[in-house]
Amino acid sequence: MNETKETVSRRHFILTGAGALGTIASTWFTGSAFGRTLKSPTPRQTLGPFFPDDGDPVHEVRENLDFRLPISEANDSDLTRIQGHAESARGQTVYIQGQVLNRRGDQLVPLPGAVLIMWNASASGRYNHRGDTETPRFQHPVTGEWIDREHDPHFQYWGRSITDAQGNYRFKTIVPGFYPVRIGNEGGEDRPSLGNGWYRPPHLHFMISAPGLPQLVTQLYFKGEHIAHNEFIQQLNARDGILRSERIPEKEQEGLIVEYRPDPSGTITDGLVGHYDFVLTL
Ligand SMILES: [Fe+2]
Repeated sequence: MNETKETVSRRHFILTGAGALGTIASTWFTGSAFGRTLKSPTPRQTLGPFFPDDGDPVHEVRENLDFRLPISEANDSDLTRIQGHAESARGQTVYIQGQVLNRRGDQLVPLPGAVLIMWNASASGRYNHRGDTETPRFQHPVTGEWIDREHDPHFQYWGRSITDAQGNYRFKTIVPGFYPVRIGNEGGEDRPSLGNGWYRPPHLHFMISAPGLPQLVTQLYFKGEHIAHNEFIQQLNARDGILRSERIPEKEQEGLIVEYRPDPSGTITDGLVGHYDFVLTL
């Protein structure tokens, strides 16, 4: 499995040209001091088993019909709609936006032309990936309600955004469902509980490639009073084995939980907005 994941990453890295362009990257960094609060590099987290492979996805979602593009790169940055579909994805619509930055010493420099691939599960916690076949339904560990992890035929599942001249990116997606990694119902309980299982909180996966820098693979999490089931999501965030990895300092773990709120500028009216700046470093 690990070998497969690494092969995917490496192939992606080559396809995006990040390796080949590394030598000219230094021309992008000239003379830029931005006086921002210095941010730590974004922590790395696992790719996970559901990166959009080439080959045999559960159902193909390809908005760009240039078949030289791998499936992961053949889509736009709006995951809530698929070209030609009248319906849009089920679930709570959110935008995630910000910059991709390079930390160089004590400076943060925006990275234009960085390629971000984002993927996430459907509103009921199912990935569009042939490997996601386990546990098609499970019991909510607090309410006991049965949850069917279903494919949403109108959800795009993954998308791509390329940063503009100021390093800005934006995706539109839905809040994914939580899903079980391990369900525990031993110890005499009649149904699983939060304390004896492991449930991945709603999260977005990212793979970011920029010339001259190592590829960043990571995940972002959710919070906010307007996010449905926010309290429960925070319980999942508090217990997640990946977010709470001991390799990530506690303060940086909190930084990966993004707050979503109505757009203060009023420009975006069809979803909540979260802000996150990715910081890449050598
Ligand atoms: Fe995941």
